Amino acid sequence: MNVLYESNIRSLPLISRGKVRDIYSVDESKLLIVTTDRVSAFDVILKDPIPGKGIVLNKMTEFWLDKFSSVLPNHSTGIKPEDIVLDDEIDQVKDRAVVVKRLRPIMVEAVARGYLIGSGWLEYQKSGSICGVKLPKNLSKASKLDSAIFTPAAKAEVGMHDENVEFDYVVQLVGSQLAKRVRDITVELYSKASKFALDKGIIIADTKFEFGLDSHGDLNLMDEVLTPDSSRFWPVSDYRVGISPPSFDKQFIRDWLESQDWNKKSPAPNLPIDVIRKTSDKYHEVLKRFL
Ligand SMILES: Nc1ncnc2c1ncn2[C@@H]1O[C@H](COP(=O)(O)OP(=O)(O)O)[C@@H](O)[C@H]1O
Ligand SMILES: [Mg+2]
Repeated sequence: MNVLYESNIRSLPLISRGKVRDIYSVDESKLLIVTTDRVSAFDVILKDPIPGKGIVLNKMTEFWLDKFSSVLPNHSTGIKPEDIVLDDEIDQVKDRAVVVKRLRPIMVEAVARGYLIGSGWLEYQKSGSICGVKLPKNLSKASKLDSAIFTPAAKAEVGMHDENVEFDYVVQLVGSQLAKRVRDITVELYSKASKFALDKGIIIADTKFEFGLDSHGDLNLMDEVLTPDSSRFWPVSDYRVGISPPSFDKQFIRDWLESQDWNKKSPAPNLPIDVIRKTSDKYHEVLKRFL
């Protein structure tokens, strides 16, 4: 299998390496985004690649971008990465890279939640609300919410946790009209995807979208969309109120790391081969379930 921990496209200037993606400049209006097989856990990039993970993420994103293209435009250009890199670089981009419009990112993580879990559950226990959205009393861990809510987070610096913010933070950032549009589209996309996933036996507990503005000032969907990295997927068969259902993808990694004597700071310990293999299988299984 084609495994890629870090890309090295010499024919294009490297702009940055994220936790998972390497970003290159194609020209002033386009980027090449290569989704590698890197995996992060507890916000630390691990040293071992998960074979094929980047290909899975790239395929899933392509699937959802296509599905949502009637709702709003997205960053795709349709240009084949193979056509803009050197021959000996094709292996690094094949099935895992996209050429996208270089957008002006809206600097919030647009999170939609349909269930009470993770940071949302923690915040609800303290305040009865999430990101300023008041919720009914007496909800439990993993309770389904009456309707999906928008709970934005400020994009954190490298190595830091994203921080939940109130809707007003987004209003201050981009104005109330655009903030409302981001909120409404986030909930709409989540709701559409949730219905689709439920038919495949998967609950989307929550997910994160990213948006950017194009050269006309129009709102576009960008980055990764409804992948296991940006979402909490639960098999319907494992769902019960009151427990934290195992998420589809990184559970083996998190469980194994929790069993180690590790302070959750970089560098993380190397993963055992069976944890790597099982995680790779999980990513491929999610893809198969959806497509
Ligand atoms: N079309 C686009 N235009 C500009 N920036 C983008 C676009 N699509 C994705 N990005 C940015 O590229 C980066 C993707 O790399 P990733 O490894 O996911 O980073 P991170 O560690 O921040 O999650 C993110 O910062 C994302 O906001
Ligand atoms: Mg990202």
